[in-house]
Amino acid sequence: MKLHIINGPNLNLLGKREPKIYGKKSFKSFFTELQFKFRKVELSYFQSNSESDLITKIQNAKADGIIINAAAYTHTSIAIADAIAAIDIPVVEIHISNTHAREDFRKKSYLSPVVKGCIFGFGMQSYELAIQSFLNQENA
Ligand code: DQA
Repeated sequence: MKLHIINGPNLNLLGKREPKIYGKKSFKSFFTELQFKFRKVELSYFQSNSESDLITKIQNAKADGIIINAAAYTHTSIAIADAIAAIDIPVVEIHISNTHAREDFRKKSYLSPVVKGCIFGFGMQSYELAIQSFLNQENA
């Protein structure tokens, strides 16, 4: 099984950025742990601060599933939602924090209506739960 993880703006700063909310681990070291933990899954990782690059990545994706944390674009980007709606690959939206327990502007997600499912608020474990959801479906 091939899964793409796509991270949006400022998630390149994980580990340094607001550690009380997002934790102290860089995505690079976390990704190595993920690859070890899910050895049977072909995982790839892409991060961009650019909406355009994220859309191009979604449009060109060749995978069995996409796990996306679109970060702040979640709350603003109709264009990313349209890109997700345009492809046939199942997409799971994840957030490290529980966006519904934060500022009001984080409660709106343009992506939620066009994805297969959403996982919010479990810290970095949100990524693992999303991978597991694809594996469970494969074995169902
Ligand atoms: C986030 C939540 C967003 O509101 C925020 O803009 C982020 C990270 C999360 O993973 O908790 O950058 O997507």
